[in-house]
Amino acid sequence: HGMLGEVWDEEMSSTMLGKRLKKVVQNYQAMNKYGVPPQSRGGPKRSGPELLCQLKEKVEVTTLTPELKPFSSLPWLSLLPPRPLTSDLGPFKSCAVVSSAGSLKHSGLGKEIDTHDAVLRFNSAPTSGYEKDVGTKTTLRLINSQVMASDDHRFLSSSLYSAGILVAWDPAPYSSDLAEWYNRTDYPIFQQYQKYRRLHPQQPFYILHPRMEWQLWDRIQENMAEPIQRNPPSSGLLGTVLMMSLCEVVHVYEFLPSRRKTELCHYYQRFYDAACTLGAYHPLLYEKNLVKRMNLGPDRDIYTHGRVTLPGFNTFNC
Ligand code: C5P
Repeated sequence: HGMLGEVWDEEMSSTMLGKRLKKVVQNYQAMNKYGVPPQSRGGPKRSGPELLCQLKEKVEVTTLTPELKPFSSLPWLSLLPPRPLTSDLGPFKSCAVVSSAGSLKHSGLGKEIDTHDAVLRFNSAPTSGYEKDVGTKTTLRLINSQVMASDDHRFLSSSLYSAGILVAWDPAPYSSDLAEWYNRTDYPIFQQYQKYRRLHPQQPFYILHPRMEWQLWDRIQENMAEPIQRNPPSSGLLGTVLMMSLCEVVHVYEFLPSRRKTELCHYYQRFYDAACTLGAYHPLLYEKNLVKRMNLGPDRDIYTHGRVTLPGFNTFNC
């Protein structure tokens, strides 16, 4: 605050939203599509280090492997990687998580992002044509099942997805029962996964274990005073926690908006909606409150670079 101008207020709540967005968020808060049981909330206010320990100890970062039921008895089990991502990759010294926010536009952060040992991008976020602002390196790409299934994204044929390692996820029932999820995914993640693997057999491609979504959701809700949307966290937070399990230090760019903050949804599209930054379906507002509390860097980094610094799980003890 003060000379810095506004950076993310970690006490952000739905009451601070504009009228239209408030309504949308309230509607989502009332829905319970994934069968989330009643939750405890608004417990003691935890410090940054306490929150980091909660994530480290209570969120299992893993991916599907062929021996898990029901996959072990399906004809396509051998398309899944034999070992989880966290055994195959890393550890890396430094990692960058590049949100797709509109505030990356004109940031000039590309060079800085590329200095990291590994870079995570999301969904259909391109580098081509945007190198100055977002860099050129893509080590991992986290994609949701909606992008995999939609015709406009041409997931199976576009070269956008050919760089780096792919990791897919789909909102699962809260129970995280794999058989139950398999029969009612939000989008046809498994059909698209099989097709993609057959077309691009050389590219490593993992599927996030849906338990992680809800373990992470629980950590958000138990630290917020109001009920949050009963939908999984955004790709941005899922990817940030994934990188905290692979890296010693994680820099997250424009998840907490810098002085460039804008209603432009994505740096690569001419579409404006505050819901992209503040959340509608996802409990994004609350995700940002948690990340603000865990940030080890100065507020100035947020203001000028949209940059948050988080420690890897292997660098601290609880
Ligand atoms: O929109 P998409 O999910 O592809 O963007 C990737 C992630 O970047 C989001 O899940 C969200 O966490 C973050 N994001 C953001 N603000 C925006 C756009 C995206 O925080 N305006």
